[in-house]
Amino acid sequence: MSDAEIIMSIEGVTKKFPMGEGKFLTACDNVTLHVRKGEFTAIVGESGCGKTTLMKSVMNIQPPTEGRIIYRGRDVTQLSGEDRRQHCRHIQMVFQDPAAAFNPKLKVKEIICEPLLNFGLVKRSEMAERAGQLLQMVELPPDFGERYPNNMSGGQRQRVAIARALALNPEIIVCDEATSALDVSVQDTIIRLLCRLQKEKGVTFIFICHDLALVSMFAHRVTVMYLGSIMEKLDGDKLQEARHPYTRALLQAVFPVEKEKTHIIQCLEGEIPSPTDMPSGCPFQTRCRSCQDKCRTEKPVLRELSDNHYAACHFPA
Ligand SMILES: Nc1ncnc2c1ncn2[C@@H]1O[C@H](COP(=O)(O)OP(=O)(O)OP(=O)(O)O)[C@@H](O)[C@H]1O
Ligand code: SF4
Ligand SMILES: [Mg+2]
Repeated sequence: MSDAEIIMSIEGVTKKFPMGEGKFLTACDNVTLHVRKGEFTAIVGESGCGKTTLMKSVMNIQPPTEGRIIYRGRDVTQLSGEDRRQHCRHIQMVFQDPAAAFNPKLKVKEIICEPLLNFGLVKRSEMAERAGQLLQMVELPPDFGERYPNNMSGGQRQRVAIARALALNPEIIVCDEATSALDVSVQDTIIRLLCRLQKEKGVTFIFICHDLALVSMFAHRVTVMYLGSIMEKLDGDKLQEARHPYTRALLQAVFPVEKEKTHIIQCLEGEIPSPTDMPSGCPFQTRCRSCQDKCRTEKPVLRELSDNHYAACHFPA
């Protein structure tokens, strides 16, 4: 896979939440990740592994405890006031449940054009036309603008959320579990829509998801997280070459290599440690079948195994 230009560098981002009595919950631990222009960068991991927390730092909603996020030559974690507002123009977010973010009293055309109104980029009299153009981009008829969000299916609401995210012509769209609540067939059509937007408009996507099988179908780069740390980073078309025991367990659960009747899918066993009381050493040690003494004392750092392929494991497969 050719290397597209890096447009965002997440460098050593750590986020710790104080939990009282001097304890901290480390939601992200020294996360380093590069986002390349016009690509799908997928961040995958189980619930609570720190995906949303990391994106809140990217969106400048919640500052990290440590680390930098370099975008357009500036550290976005340090932006404030008008600079922070302008940052929002370039990076937009689509959430799992857009209905929760929509004002039910507003028509779809008002919801879609709200970001444009906020930046003084559209007049009220032009709203219907502009909303119609954006609705067409997400394959909905222009007259959809006259509807209210309650009168739509989940898939249609998610298209409206994407149209709204597109309104400011952003460079990056962050999709946080944006298709997770949808039926498989609707999920499929939304993914196809995002792929079309990526190809036709050159939008860069950061796609947050817990489903490795889904992202394997379209992601250019995949980052696998576990309890706040990156376990493995590799190209999407090389997922079958994953060498971290966690990624391999996830892969085996979705793409069993042996298909004989006797084959039992190797599920992830073992206790997940509490994020407020992490063991020293490797975060994955309690569930790893390859765990050895060194894993219990020394936290593995991300090491380059081959081009664009990194894993944090003392004993990669
Ligand atoms: N404001 C907060 N205060 C304390 N802990 C928090 C806060 N926000 C998140 N956390 C904790 O940080 C960890 C990471 O949470 P986060 O929401 O980033 O996970 P996630 O990977 O997005 O999970 P999901 O797939 O369920 O959305 C979790 O243990 C969560 O409970
Ligand atoms: S470092 Fe050890 S415990 Fe952690 S994933 Fe690798 S082999 Fe397993
Ligand atoms: Mg989340």
